[in-house]
Amino acid sequence: MKKLIFNQVGKPENVLSIEETTIPQPQAGDVLVRVKASPINPSDVAFVEGGYGIRPQLPSGAGFEGAGIIEAVGEGVNLPLGAKVSFTSIGAWSEYVTVPAKSLMLLPDTMPLEIGAQVFVNPITAWAMLYESGLRKDDYLLLTAGGSTFAQLVVQMAAKKGVKTICTVRRNDQIQQLRELGAWEVINTEEVNLAKKVRELTEKKGVNYCFDAVGGEIASQAIQCLAYKGTLLVYGMLSLKEMQVHNGLMIFKNLSVRGFWLTTWLQEASKEVRKEATNDIISMLNQGELKVKVDKTYELDQFKEALLHAQGEGRTGKILLKI
Ligand SMILES: NC(=O)c1ccc[n+]([C@@H]2O[C@H](COP(=O)([O-])OP(=O)(O)OC[C@H]3O[C@@H](n4cnc5c(N)ncnc54)[C@H](OP(=O)(O)O)[C@@H]3O)[C@@H](O)[C@H]2O)c1
Repeated sequence: MKKLIFNQVGKPENVLSIEETTIPQPQAGDVLVRVKASPINPSDVAFVEGGYGIRPQLPSGAGFEGAGIIEAVGEGVNLPLGAKVSFTSIGAWSEYVTVPAKSLMLLPDTMPLEIGAQVFVNPITAWAMLYESGLRKDDYLLLTAGGSTFAQLVVQMAAKKGVKTICTVRRNDQIQQLRELGAWEVINTEEVNLAKKVRELTEKKGVNYCFDAVGGEIASQAIQCLAYKGTLLVYGMLSLKEMQVHNGLMIFKNLSVRGFWLTTWLQEASKEVRKEATNDIISMLNQGELKVKVDKTYELDQFKEALLHAQGEGRTGKILLKI
C-alpha cells in the first residue's frame, strides 16, 4: 500500500514522500480502514513543519483525519465490514490505517465520503467553542479568517442559535458566500478599519466573544472590538505573528484572552457532551443543514500539487486527497 511519510520536519511539499509498505493487520480492539478521502488542514501542515502541539516521532505519517470503509476488524470488535467511517489518526494520508474501534465515528450510508472525511477537526472544534462560549441569541461573535472552513461552520451553527456573527475576510468575493451561510456582517479588513466598523455595528457595545485564528495585527485589532468582560478565544495563528495586548484595555474592560485546542477539550469534556457533539454534527451534515465545501480533490500521487494549493490564498473550500 501507499503511504505519505516524512523523515525530517520541514515544508510538507519538500519533506513528504510516498512509501510502499505492507497493509497493517488490526490488533485486538482495532479496525483496518481502507481510506477513501482525507483533507489537508492547517494543523496537518504545522505538524509536518514541527510547529504543532504534538511532535512527530520520525519517521512519521502525516494527515490527521479522513473517511473510508471498514476492511477488517481485530478481536473483540463488533462492527460491520464495509461500513463507512470517519477517523482520526496520525498518518491519515495513507491507503489503509488501523485505528481503535472506539475512536471511530460510523457514518450514515447516505453521507458522501468527501464530507465524512471532514467530520472531525473543524466541525467538532466549531461546536465545542460555541458550546464553551455559552453565547446566546443576539450576542455578538467576531470571527477572524471568516472564509475558513472552521469559521463557515461556526457561522452556520451560530445562525441556528440566533448569535450574530461578524466575519473578517481579506477578499470581497467571500462576502456573499458568508452571508448566504448566515453571517450577520462581513468586514473586509483590507478596506475597512475593523475596530471602528465593529463599534458602529454593535452600537458601541462591542462583541461578547472573538474566535481568533489569525494572530498579529488582526488579533490586536480584534481585542479592541471586545465588549466589557468580552473574551478573545485564540485557536490558530495563521499569520504566524504574535498579537499585541493593551494592558489598560484588559484592565478597564475586564477582558479575557484564552486558548482553545480540540485535543485537550476532547480529553476534558464528558462522554455525554462528546457524544452530543458528534451526533449533532453527523446529523446536521447528513441533512445538509451544515455545509462544508471542497475546492479540489487530488490523487495521493499528486500530493505536492495538493499541498501547494492548500497553502495558497483564495480557495473556495478544502483541498482533499482522494486515496
Ligand atoms: N485549536 C484547535 O483545536 C483548532 C481546530 C481546528 C482548526 N483550528 C485552526 O483553525 C484555523 C482555520 O482552519 P481551517 O481548516 O478552517 O482553514 P482553511 O479552511 O484552510 O482556511 C484558511 C483561511 O484562513 C485565511 N487566512 C490564511 N492566512 C491568513 C492571514 N494571514 N490573515 C488572514 N486570513 C488568513 C484564508 O484566507 P484566504 O481565503 O483569503 O486565503 C482562508 O480563508 C487554522 O488556524 C487551524 O489551525 C484550530
